[in-house]
Amino acid sequence: MADVTVIGTGYVGLIQGVCLADVGHDVTCVDIDEAKIEMLRTGTSPIFEPGLEELLAKTIASGRITFATPDDGWADLLGDIVFVAVGTPQADNGAADLRFVRSVTSAIAAEATHPFTLVMKSTVPPGTGHALIRRTLADAPVDIAYVSNPEFLREGKALEDWYRTDRIVIGSDTPDAAEAVSALYEAVDAPRVITDIASAETIKYASNAFLSTKISFINEIANLCDVIGADIDAVSHGIGMDTRIGPDFLRAGIGYGGSCFPKDTRALDFIATINGYEFSLLKSVIEVNNRQRLLPVIALVRALPHLHERTIAVLGLAFKPDTDDVRESPAVDIVPLLVEEGCSVKVYDPIAAEVEIPGATRCATVWEALDGVSAAVVITEWGEFATLDWERAAGMMTSPAVVFDGRNCLDPSKVEAAGLSYMAVGRPGAHRTGRSG
Ligand code: UDX
Repeated sequence: MADVTVIGTGYVGLIQGVCLADVGHDVTCVDIDEAKIEMLRTGTSPIFEPGLEELLAKTIASGRITFATPDDGWADLLGDIVFVAVGTPQADNGAADLRFVRSVTSAIAAEATHPFTLVMKSTVPPGTGHALIRRTLADAPVDIAYVSNPEFLREGKALEDWYRTDRIVIGSDTPDAAEAVSALYEAVDAPRVITDIASAETIKYASNAFLSTKISFINEIANLCDVIGADIDAVSHGIGMDTRIGPDFLRAGIGYGGSCFPKDTRALDFIATINGYEFSLLKSVIEVNNRQRLLPVIALVRALPHLHERTIAVLGLAFKPDTDDVRESPAVDIVPLLVEEGCSVKVYDPIAAEVEIPGATRCATVWEALDGVSAAVVITEWGEFATLDWERAAGMMTSPAVVFDGRNCLDPSKVEAAGLSYMAVGRPGAHRTGRSG
Protein backbone atom coordinates (compact mmCIF):
# COMPACT_ATOMS: atom_id res chain seq x y z
CA MET A 1 0.00 0.00 0.00
CA ALA A 2 1.24 3.48 -0.85
CA ASP A 3 2.26 6.43 1.26
CA VAL A 4 0.07 9.25 -0.07
CA THR A 5 -0.23 12.96 0.67
CA VAL A 6 -3.26 14.98 -0.38
CA ILE A 7 -2.81 18.75 -0.34
CA GLY A 8 -6.07 20.67 0.00
CA THR A 9 -9.04 19.35 1.97
CA GLY A 10 -11.75 21.02 -0.07
CA TYR A 11 -14.36 18.97 -1.81
CA VAL A 12 -12.03 17.11 -4.16
CA GLY A 13 -9.07 16.64 -1.80
CA LEU A 14 -11.10 15.43 1.15
CA ILE A 15 -13.02 12.83 -0.85
CA GLN A 16 -9.76 11.68 -2.48
CA GLY A 17 -7.97 11.39 0.86
CA VAL A 18 -10.75 9.56 2.66
CA CYS A 19 -11.40 7.14 -0.22
CA LEU A 20 -7.69 6.33 -0.71
CA ALA A 21 -7.42 5.64 3.04
CA ASP A 22 -10.55 3.50 2.84
CA VAL A 23 -9.01 1.27 0.15
CA GLY A 24 -5.94 0.75 2.33
CA HIS A 25 -3.39 3.48 1.62
CA ASP A 26 -1.67 5.57 4.29
CA VAL A 27 -2.89 9.10 3.72
CA THR A 28 -1.84 12.47 5.11
CA CYS A 29 -4.26 15.29 4.29
CA VAL A 30 -2.73 18.76 4.44
CA ASP A 31 -4.47 22.14 4.50
CA ILE A 32 -3.41 25.67 5.46
CA ASP A 33 -6.74 26.14 7.26
CA GLU A 34 -5.93 25.09 10.83
CA ALA A 35 -9.54 25.26 12.00
CA LYS A 36 -10.55 22.86 9.23
CA ILE A 37 -7.74 20.46 10.09
CA GLU A 38 -8.80 20.50 13.77
CA MET A 39 -12.37 19.82 12.72
CA LEU A 40 -11.32 16.91 10.51
CA ARG A 41 -9.24 15.40 13.31
CA THR A 42 -12.43 15.16 15.38
CA GLY A 43 -14.16 13.40 12.49
CA THR A 44 -16.38 16.32 11.50
CA SER A 45 -16.77 17.00 7.78
CA PRO A 46 -16.66 20.68 6.78
CA ILE A 47 -18.91 19.90 3.79
CA PHE A 48 -22.28 18.22 3.43
CA GLU A 49 -21.80 15.04 1.40
CA PRO A 50 -23.86 11.88 1.96
CA GLY A 51 -21.77 9.14 3.63
CA LEU A 52 -18.61 11.22 4.01
CA GLU A 53 -18.68 11.66 7.77
CA GLU A 54 -19.19 7.92 8.31
CA LEU A 55 -16.23 7.10 6.04
CA LEU A 56 -14.15 9.77 7.76
CA ALA A 57 -14.84 8.18 11.16
CA LYS A 58 -14.05 4.73 9.80
CA THR A 59 -10.72 5.74 8.25
CA ILE A 60 -9.65 7.79 11.30
CA ALA A 61 -10.37 4.75 13.48
CA SER A 62 -8.31 2.56 11.12
CA GLY A 63 -5.32 4.88 11.66
CA ARG A 64 -4.79 5.19 7.90
CA ILE A 65 -5.63 8.89 7.65
CA THR A 66 -4.06 11.82 9.50
CA PHE A 67 -4.42 15.57 9.13
CA ALA A 68 -1.71 18.23 9.16
CA THR A 69 -0.89 21.80 8.19
CA PRO A 70 2.20 22.84 6.17
CA ASP A 71 3.64 24.16 9.47
CA ASP A 72 4.46 20.54 10.28
CA GLY A 73 7.10 20.78 7.53
CA TRP A 74 6.77 19.63 3.91
CA ALA A 75 9.81 17.39 4.16
CA ASP A 76 7.95 15.20 6.69
CA LEU A 77 4.53 15.51 5.09
CA LEU A 78 5.34 14.39 1.55
CA GLY A 79 4.68 10.76 0.74
CA ASP A 80 5.69 8.89 -2.42
CA ILE A 81 2.61 10.13 -4.24
CA VAL A 82 1.41 13.68 -3.62
CA PHE A 83 -1.99 14.85 -4.85
CA VAL A 84 -2.49 18.56 -5.35
CA ALA A 85 -6.18 19.35 -4.82
CA VAL A 86 -6.20 23.06 -4.04
CA GLY A 87 -8.76 25.48 -5.44
CA THR A 88 -8.58 26.95 -8.94
CA PRO A 89 -11.10 29.80 -8.63
CA GLN A 90 -12.21 31.92 -11.53
CA ALA A 91 -10.21 35.06 -12.18
CA ASP A 92 -11.95 38.29 -13.24
CA ASN A 93 -11.16 37.63 -16.92
CA GLY A 94 -12.76 34.15 -16.81
CA ALA A 95 -9.43 32.31 -16.69
CA ALA A 96 -8.64 29.74 -14.00
CA ASP A 97 -6.67 31.41 -11.21
CA LEU A 98 -3.68 29.11 -10.68
CA ARG A 99 -2.05 31.03 -7.84
CA PHE A 100 -2.67 28.29 -5.21
CA VAL A 101 -1.56 25.50 -7.55
CA ARG A 102 1.65 27.38 -8.34
CA SER A 103 2.48 28.30 -4.76
CA VAL A 104 1.95 24.83 -3.38
CA THR A 105 3.92 23.25 -6.24
CA SER A 106 6.83 25.64 -5.65
CA ALA A 107 6.79 25.00 -1.89
CA ILE A 108 6.86 21.22 -2.13
CA ALA A 109 9.39 21.21 -4.97
CA ALA A 110 11.75 23.40 -2.93
CA GLU A 111 11.46 21.51 0.34
CA ALA A 112 11.21 17.87 -0.80
CA THR A 113 14.00 15.64 0.45
CA HIS A 114 13.07 12.52 -1.53
CA PRO A 115 11.79 11.88 -5.08
CA PHE A 116 8.02 11.68 -5.46
CA THR A 117 5.19 11.79 -7.98
CA LEU A 118 3.09 14.94 -8.07
CA VAL A 119 -0.47 14.19 -9.16
CA MET A 120 -2.59 17.15 -10.25
CA LYS A 121 -6.17 16.64 -9.04
CA SER A 122 -7.13 20.32 -9.20
CA THR A 123 -8.83 21.26 -12.45
CA VAL A 124 -6.13 23.11 -14.40
CA PRO A 125 -6.30 24.30 -18.01
CA PRO A 126 -4.56 22.38 -20.77
CA GLY A 127 -0.90 23.35 -20.82
CA THR A 128 -0.60 23.86 -17.06
CA GLY A 129 1.19 20.58 -16.38
CA HIS A 130 3.95 21.22 -18.88
CA ALA A 131 4.33 24.81 -17.64
CA LEU A 132 4.73 23.59 -14.03
CA ILE A 133 7.31 21.00 -15.11
CA ARG A 134 9.26 23.60 -17.11
CA ARG A 135 9.11 26.45 -14.62
CA THR A 136 9.20 24.69 -11.25
CA LEU A 137 9.70 20.93 -11.14
CA ALA A 138 12.68 20.78 -13.53
CA ASP A 139 14.77 22.84 -11.04
CA ALA A 140 13.77 20.91 -7.91
CA PRO A 141 16.56 19.30 -5.85
CA VAL A 142 14.87 15.87 -6.19
CA ASP A 143 13.21 14.04 -9.11
CA ILE A 144 9.52 14.85 -9.32
CA ALA A 145 7.38 12.97 -11.83
CA TYR A 146 4.19 14.71 -12.96
CA VAL A 147 0.80 13.08 -13.51
CA SER A 148 -2.52 14.65 -14.43
CA ASN A 149 -5.42 12.72 -12.87
CA PRO A 150 -8.62 14.76 -13.22
CA GLU A 151 -11.69 14.08 -11.09
CA PHE A 152 -15.25 13.61 -12.32
CA LEU A 153 -17.11 13.56 -9.00
CA ARG A 154 -20.61 14.90 -8.73
CA GLU A 155 -21.50 16.71 -5.52
CA GLY A 156 -23.96 14.69 -3.50
CA LYS A 157 -22.85 11.48 -5.22
CA ALA A 158 -19.11 11.87 -4.79
CA LEU A 159 -18.42 8.66 -2.86
CA GLU A 160 -20.52 6.59 -5.23
CA ASP A 161 -18.70 8.22 -8.17
CA TRP A 162 -15.27 7.57 -6.63
CA TYR A 163 -15.85 3.82 -6.32
CA ARG A 164 -17.91 3.41 -9.49
CA THR A 165 -16.43 5.89 -11.94
CA ASP A 166 -16.85 5.41 -15.69
CA ARG A 167 -13.09 5.84 -16.24
CA ILE A 168 -9.84 6.83 -14.58
CA VAL A 169 -7.86 9.32 -16.66
CA ILE A 170 -4.10 9.42 -16.19
CA GLY A 171 -1.84 11.70 -18.19
CA SER A 172 1.93 11.61 -17.86
CA ASP A 173 5.20 11.67 -19.78
CA THR A 174 6.57 9.18 -17.24
CA PRO A 175 5.12 5.65 -17.74
CA ASP A 176 6.25 4.37 -14.30
CA ALA A 177 4.55 7.25 -12.54
CA ALA A 178 1.36 6.69 -14.55
CA GLU A 179 1.47 3.01 -13.60
CA ALA A 180 1.97 3.84 -9.88
CA VAL A 181 -1.03 6.19 -9.90
CA SER A 182 -3.15 3.62 -11.72
CA ALA A 183 -2.22 1.03 -9.07
CA LEU A 184 -3.54 3.32 -6.31
CA TYR A 185 -7.02 2.69 -7.71
CA GLU A 186 -6.66 -1.11 -7.80
CA ALA A 187 -9.89 -1.42 -5.78
CA VAL A 188 -11.80 0.54 -8.43
CA ASP A 189 -13.06 -1.55 -11.31
CA ALA A 190 -12.96 1.04 -14.10
CA PRO A 191 -11.18 1.35 -17.44
CA ARG A 192 -8.00 3.44 -17.45
CA VAL A 193 -7.33 6.10 -20.05
CA ILE A 194 -3.55 6.45 -20.06
CA THR A 195 -2.46 9.40 -22.16
CA ASP A 196 -0.23 12.49 -22.27
CA ILE A 197 -0.61 15.37 -19.83
CA ALA A 198 -2.26 17.92 -22.14
CA SER A 199 -4.81 15.34 -23.35
CA ALA A 200 -5.74 14.36 -19.78
CA GLU A 201 -6.18 18.03 -18.89
CA THR A 202 -8.32 18.52 -21.99
CA ILE A 203 -10.49 15.46 -21.25
CA LYS A 204 -11.57 17.08 -17.99
CA TYR A 205 -12.56 20.40 -19.59
CA ALA A 206 -14.10 18.79 -22.66
CA SER A 207 -16.23 16.49 -20.47
CA ASN A 208 -17.66 19.38 -18.49
CA ALA A 209 -18.07 21.50 -21.63
CA PHE A 210 -19.90 18.67 -23.40
CA LEU A 211 -22.27 18.07 -20.48
CA SER A 212 -22.92 21.82 -20.26
CA THR A 213 -23.61 21.81 -24.00
CA LYS A 214 -26.14 19.02 -23.56
CA ILE A 215 -27.94 21.06 -20.88
CA SER A 216 -27.95 24.31 -22.88
CA PHE A 217 -29.08 22.39 -25.95
CA ILE A 218 -32.06 20.82 -24.19
CA ASN A 219 -32.88 24.18 -22.63
CA GLU A 220 -33.01 25.78 -26.08
CA ILE A 221 -35.25 22.94 -27.27
CA ALA A 222 -37.46 23.54 -24.19
CA ASN A 223 -37.70 27.25 -25.02
CA LEU A 224 -38.69 26.26 -28.55
CA CYS A 225 -41.29 23.85 -27.11
CA ASP A 226 -42.77 26.80 -25.20
CA VAL A 227 -43.11 28.78 -28.41
CA ILE A 228 -44.49 26.00 -30.61
CA GLY A 229 -46.54 24.16 -28.00
CA ALA A 230 -44.57 20.93 -27.74
CA ASP A 231 -43.80 19.10 -24.49
CA ILE A 232 -40.14 18.97 -23.45
CA ASP A 233 -40.72 15.93 -21.22
CA ALA A 234 -41.83 13.90 -24.25
CA VAL A 235 -39.09 15.38 -26.45
CA SER A 236 -36.30 14.63 -23.93
CA HIS A 237 -37.61 11.11 -23.49
CA GLY A 238 -37.86 10.58 -27.22
CA ILE A 239 -34.41 11.83 -28.14
CA GLY A 240 -32.74 10.20 -25.10
CA MET A 241 -33.82 6.78 -26.35
CA ASP A 242 -31.32 7.12 -29.18
CA THR A 243 -28.32 5.36 -27.67
CA ARG A 244 -26.01 7.75 -29.51
CA ILE A 245 -27.57 10.61 -27.54
CA GLY A 246 -28.44 8.89 -24.25
CA PRO A 247 -31.04 9.91 -21.66
CA ASP A 248 -28.76 11.74 -19.19
CA PHE A 249 -28.36 15.51 -18.91
CA LEU A 250 -31.52 16.19 -20.87
CA ARG A 251 -33.46 17.74 -18.00
CA ALA A 252 -34.53 21.21 -19.07
CA GLY A 253 -34.79 24.04 -16.58
CA ILE A 254 -33.19 27.27 -15.48
CA GLY A 255 -29.70 26.07 -16.32
CA TYR A 256 -26.58 24.60 -14.78
CA GLY A 257 -24.77 25.98 -11.75
CA GLY A 258 -22.29 24.71 -9.20
CA SER A 259 -18.58 24.93 -8.72
CA CYS A 260 -17.57 23.26 -11.99
CA PHE A 261 -19.66 23.81 -15.13
CA PRO A 262 -19.88 27.64 -15.07
CA LYS A 263 -16.21 28.07 -14.11
CA ASP A 264 -14.80 25.37 -16.39
CA THR A 265 -16.75 26.45 -19.48
CA ARG A 266 -15.54 30.04 -19.03
CA ALA A 267 -11.96 28.89 -18.43
CA LEU A 268 -12.00 26.71 -21.55
CA ASP A 269 -13.38 29.60 -23.57
CA PHE A 270 -10.58 31.78 -22.21
CA ILE A 271 -7.91 29.20 -23.03
CA ALA A 272 -9.28 28.88 -26.57
CA THR A 273 -9.34 32.66 -27.01
CA ILE A 274 -5.79 33.30 -25.84
CA ASN A 275 -4.60 30.51 -28.11
CA GLY A 276 -6.24 32.27 -31.01
CA TYR A 277 -9.24 29.96 -31.39
CA GLU A 278 -12.81 31.27 -31.43
CA PHE A 279 -14.84 28.53 -29.66
CA SER A 280 -18.21 29.86 -30.81
CA LEU A 281 -20.28 26.83 -29.76
CA LEU A 282 -18.98 27.08 -26.19
CA LYS A 283 -19.69 30.81 -26.09
CA SER A 284 -23.31 30.07 -27.04
CA VAL A 285 -23.58 27.38 -24.37
CA ILE A 286 -22.51 29.92 -21.74
CA GLU A 287 -24.79 32.62 -23.14
CA VAL A 288 -27.81 30.28 -23.21
CA ASN A 289 -27.15 29.31 -19.61
CA ASN A 290 -26.92 32.95 -18.49
CA ARG A 291 -30.17 33.72 -20.26
CA GLN A 292 -31.94 30.65 -18.95
CA ARG A 293 -31.74 31.76 -15.35
CA LEU A 294 -33.64 34.94 -16.21
CA LEU A 295 -36.74 32.94 -17.24
CA PRO A 296 -38.52 33.02 -13.87
CA VAL A 297 -38.11 36.79 -13.62
CA ILE A 298 -39.31 37.33 -17.21
CA ALA A 299 -42.29 35.05 -16.55
CA LEU A 300 -43.27 36.80 -13.32
CA VAL A 301 -42.98 40.27 -14.88
CA ARG A 302 -45.44 39.11 -17.55
CA ALA A 303 -47.77 37.12 -15.31
CA LEU A 304 -48.14 39.42 -12.31
CA PRO A 305 -49.19 43.05 -12.62
CA HIS A 306 -47.65 45.39 -10.01
CA LEU A 307 -44.83 42.94 -9.36
CA HIS A 308 -43.03 45.56 -7.29
CA GLU A 309 -45.78 45.42 -4.66
CA ARG A 310 -45.68 41.65 -4.32
CA THR A 311 -43.95 39.09 -2.15
CA ILE A 312 -42.29 36.14 -3.89
CA ALA A 313 -41.09 32.85 -2.39
CA VAL A 314 -37.87 31.39 -3.78
CA LEU A 315 -37.82 27.66 -3.01
CA GLY A 316 -34.34 26.18 -3.05
CA LEU A 317 -31.00 27.95 -2.97
CA ALA A 318 -28.61 25.05 -3.61
CA PHE A 319 -27.48 24.63 -7.24
CA LYS A 320 -28.94 21.11 -7.17
CA PRO A 321 -30.46 18.76 -4.58
CA ASP A 322 -28.44 16.78 -1.99
CA THR A 323 -25.91 19.55 -1.51
CA ASP A 324 -25.73 22.74 0.53
CA ASP A 325 -23.57 24.34 -2.19
CA VAL A 326 -24.98 27.59 -3.59
CA ARG A 327 -21.98 28.47 -5.76
CA GLU A 328 -23.23 29.76 -9.12
CA SER A 329 -26.74 28.66 -8.22
CA PRO A 330 -29.43 30.38 -10.31
CA ALA A 331 -30.88 31.57 -6.98
CA VAL A 332 -27.88 33.82 -6.48
CA ASP A 333 -28.85 35.74 -9.65
CA ILE A 334 -32.62 35.46 -9.45
CA VAL A 335 -33.13 36.79 -5.90
CA PRO A 336 -31.29 40.11 -6.54
CA LEU A 337 -33.21 40.54 -9.81
CA LEU A 338 -36.53 40.16 -7.99
CA VAL A 339 -35.35 42.55 -5.27
CA GLU A 340 -34.34 44.97 -8.04
CA GLU A 341 -37.89 44.69 -9.45
CA GLY A 342 -39.10 45.92 -6.06
CA CYS A 343 -40.45 42.59 -4.76
CA SER A 344 -40.17 41.36 -1.21
CA VAL A 345 -38.40 38.00 -1.44
CA LYS A 346 -38.64 35.11 1.02
CA VAL A 347 -36.19 32.24 0.57
CA TYR A 348 -36.20 28.67 1.84
CA ASP A 349 -33.81 25.76 1.36
CA PRO A 350 -33.98 22.52 3.38
CA ILE A 351 -30.17 22.12 3.61
CA ALA A 352 -28.43 25.32 2.49
CA ALA A 353 -29.85 26.98 5.60
CA GLU A 354 -26.90 29.14 6.60
CA VAL A 355 -26.58 31.05 3.34
CA GLU A 356 -27.52 34.72 3.47
CA ILE A 357 -28.75 36.31 0.26
CA PRO A 358 -28.81 40.12 0.56
CA GLY A 359 -32.28 41.63 0.34
CA ALA A 360 -34.09 38.34 1.00
CA THR A 361 -35.79 37.09 4.16
CA ARG A 362 -34.81 33.59 5.24
CA CYS A 363 -37.57 31.20 6.22
CA ALA A 364 -37.23 28.14 8.43
CA THR A 365 -39.93 26.13 6.65
CA VAL A 366 -41.49 26.00 3.21
CA TRP A 367 -44.82 27.02 4.78
CA GLU A 368 -43.32 30.12 6.32
CA ALA A 369 -41.92 30.97 2.86
CA LEU A 370 -45.25 30.46 1.09
CA ASP A 371 -47.35 32.41 3.57
CA GLY A 372 -48.81 35.50 1.87
CA VAL A 373 -46.78 35.30 -1.39
CA SER A 374 -48.11 35.88 -4.91
CA ALA A 375 -45.64 33.47 -6.51
CA ALA A 376 -43.38 30.55 -5.68
CA VAL A 377 -40.27 29.99 -7.82
CA VAL A 378 -38.75 26.52 -7.55
CA ILE A 379 -34.98 26.80 -8.08
CA THR A 380 -33.84 23.41 -6.75
CA GLU A 381 -35.63 20.10 -7.32
CA TRP A 382 -35.66 19.07 -3.65
CA GLY A 383 -37.96 16.07 -3.03
CA GLU A 384 -39.84 18.17 -0.47
CA PHE A 385 -41.13 20.45 -3.25
CA ALA A 386 -42.14 17.62 -5.59
CA THR A 387 -44.36 16.11 -2.89
CA LEU A 388 -45.65 19.39 -1.47
CA ASP A 389 -49.32 19.73 -0.52
CA TRP A 390 -50.26 22.37 -3.10
CA GLU A 391 -53.81 22.64 -1.76
CA ARG A 392 -52.36 23.83 1.53
CA ALA A 393 -49.94 26.12 -0.32
CA ALA A 394 -52.78 27.66 -2.35
CA GLY A 395 -54.65 28.41 0.88
CA MET A 396 -51.72 30.49 2.11
CA MET A 397 -50.76 32.29 -1.13
CA THR A 398 -52.43 35.49 -2.32
CA SER A 399 -54.41 35.53 -5.57
CA PRO A 400 -53.56 35.46 -8.47
CA ALA A 401 -51.06 32.87 -7.24
CA VAL A 402 -48.40 31.58 -9.59
CA VAL A 403 -45.89 28.72 -9.36
CA PHE A 404 -42.80 28.85 -11.60
CA ASP A 405 -41.25 25.38 -11.70
CA GLY A 406 -37.66 26.15 -12.70
CA ARG A 407 -36.71 22.46 -12.71
CA ASN A 408 -39.81 20.87 -14.27
CA CYS A 409 -39.99 18.78 -11.12
CA LEU A 410 -43.60 19.31 -10.00
CA ASP A 411 -46.74 17.54 -11.11
CA PRO A 412 -48.54 20.29 -13.08
CA SER A 413 -51.96 18.69 -12.61
CA LYS A 414 -51.61 18.83 -8.79
CA VAL A 415 -50.51 22.47 -8.83
CA GLU A 416 -53.29 23.47 -11.20
CA ALA A 417 -55.91 21.39 -9.35
CA ALA A 418 -55.11 23.54 -6.32
CA GLY A 419 -56.14 26.61 -8.33
CA LEU A 420 -52.59 27.83 -8.86
CA SER A 421 -51.25 29.03 -12.19
CA TYR A 422 -48.40 26.71 -13.25
CA MET A 423 -45.42 27.84 -15.34
CA ALA A 424 -42.36 25.79 -16.25
CA VAL A 425 -39.69 25.44 -18.93
CA GLY A 426 -40.97 23.80 -22.12
CA ARG A 427 -44.02 22.15 -20.60
CA PRO A 428 -47.26 22.86 -22.47
CA GLY A 429 -50.22 24.61 -20.87
CA ALA A 430 -51.14 27.94 -19.40
CA HIS A 431 -47.49 28.71 -18.59
CA ARG A 432 -46.76 29.34 -22.28
CA THR A 433 -47.96 32.88 -21.80
CA GLY A 434 -44.97 33.25 -19.48
CA ARG A 435 -42.52 32.99 -22.32
CA SER A 436 -44.03 33.67 -25.70
CA GLY A 437 -46.49 36.36 -24.59
C1 UDX B 1 -20.28 18.22 -12.39
C2 UDX B 1 -19.88 16.98 -13.20
O1 UDX B 1 -21.00 16.10 -13.33
C3 UDX B 1 -18.70 16.28 -12.56
O2 UDX B 1 -18.29 15.20 -13.39
C4 UDX B 1 -17.56 17.29 -12.39
O3 UDX B 1 -16.47 16.69 -11.77
C5 UDX B 1 -18.03 18.48 -11.59
O4 UDX B 1 -19.16 19.08 -12.22
P1 UDX B 1 -21.71 18.70 -10.21
O5 UDX B 1 -21.32 20.15 -10.38
O6 UDX B 1 -21.67 18.10 -8.84
O7 UDX B 1 -20.78 17.78 -11.13
O8 UDX B 1 -23.20 18.58 -10.71
P2 UDX B 1 -24.07 17.79 -11.79
O9 UDX B 1 -24.91 16.80 -11.10
O10 UDX B 1 -23.27 17.32 -12.93
O11 UDX B 1 -25.03 18.99 -12.27
C6 UDX B 1 -24.47 20.22 -12.70
C7 UDX B 1 -25.54 21.23 -12.98
O12 UDX B 1 -26.25 20.89 -14.15
C8 UDX B 1 -26.59 21.40 -11.89
O13 UDX B 1 -26.86 22.77 -11.72
C9 UDX B 1 -27.80 20.67 -12.43
O14 UDX B 1 -29.00 21.20 -11.92
C10 UDX B 1 -27.66 20.94 -13.91
N1 UDX B 1 -28.31 19.94 -14.76
C11 UDX B 1 -27.83 18.66 -14.79
C12 UDX B 1 -29.37 20.31 -15.56
O15 UDX B 1 -29.80 21.47 -15.56
N2 UDX B 1 -29.94 19.37 -16.37
C13 UDX B 1 -29.51 18.09 -16.42
O16 UDX B 1 -30.07 17.30 -17.18
C14 UDX B 1 -28.41 17.72 -15.60
